[in-house]
Amino acid sequence: MPVISNSAPGKVILCGEHAVVYGQPAIALPVLDIITRCVILAKPNSTSGDVRISDPSIGLNCSFTALRPDHPLKKTIALVLSALSIDHLPACEIQIHSTIPVGGGLGSSASVSVALTRGIANFVGRTLDNEAVNDIAFEIEKLHHNTPSGIDNSVITYAKPVFYVKGTPMQWLEIDSPMYFLIANSGLKGSTAKAVAQVRENWKSATAEYESIFHEIGLISYAMRESLKSGTLSKAGELMTSNHALLQQIGVSLPQLDVLVNTAIDAGAYGAKLSGGGLGGNVLALVPPERAAAVSQALTKSGAVNIIPARFNLSGAEK
Ligand code: PMV
Repeated sequence: MPVISNSAPGKVILCGEHAVVYGQPAIALPVLDIITRCVILAKPNSTSGDVRISDPSIGLNCSFTALRPDHPLKKTIALVLSALSIDHLPACEIQIHSTIPVGGGLGSSASVSVALTRGIANFVGRTLDNEAVNDIAFEIEKLHHNTPSGIDNSVITYAKPVFYVKGTPMQWLEIDSPMYFLIANSGLKGSTAKAVAQVRENWKSATAEYESIFHEIGLISYAMRESLKSGTLSKAGELMTSNHALLQQIGVSLPQLDVLVNTAIDAGAYGAKLSGGGLGGNVLALVPPERAAAVSQALTKSGAVNIIPARFNLSGAEK
């Protein structure tokens, strides 16, 4: 029986989240240590022609027809079939397996969209280029939160570090400077939709103040790009920490996230910040490799429920 298997990575945002929704630059990196895998098994002998779909990370196991039309998984499949001018999917079983924590700011929703999009296209014997995959994943991000910047679907589709400004051509970062991160899970489930909506409400009532903070965050992204180019990791860490302070000011941090950020820095990280939507989720710490064990231990002691080590060199290859 033919089996199709496609995967997509998670991601972290090094700087610029939220401000990126308002046109400022942000930098995101793919994380290959956490992935979504989409496995599709053909059911050529099925008499009902049924398509079944399961995703244990969201407690889903049902017939495709039982999903509401605007369910992200159903919509993804509909968009793929439409892009390929195919009117229906042959009987099959679609399994989504993800090691990316949901609500962690690590791009779980975009990763599922990308893996599923490629899986469905492969299953019907076709391929979609990255641009088409990215477009579909972006449409699905809109279902998750109304005004996505597009950074998550882009970094995950292309699996390359990106300097991203909404509505402009993607700028890939190709700098061969190894970076060692710890991604510390606070154990609190974040909600990107809630965080983005909350920031928008605050922006509406204090536009000048928020625009000024977003501008400062944008300046951090430009400075970060320079420090990555020159391989000045201590500076990159400082910029992350400054970015966290600005994320606190726009109200998307939580005391537990602040504790993890401070803990990482006190234990020897170059810098740390929340990553993604916030209001829970993960803290990203940039660490000198020789301090990684000590920082990791300190983070666990301060309440991190899980720590993912991730090493990059910015040419995109991740060890
Ligand atoms: O929480 P995540 O992983 O979906 O990251 C969201 C990043 C934001 O800047 C908050 C939103 C966006 O669309 O860019």
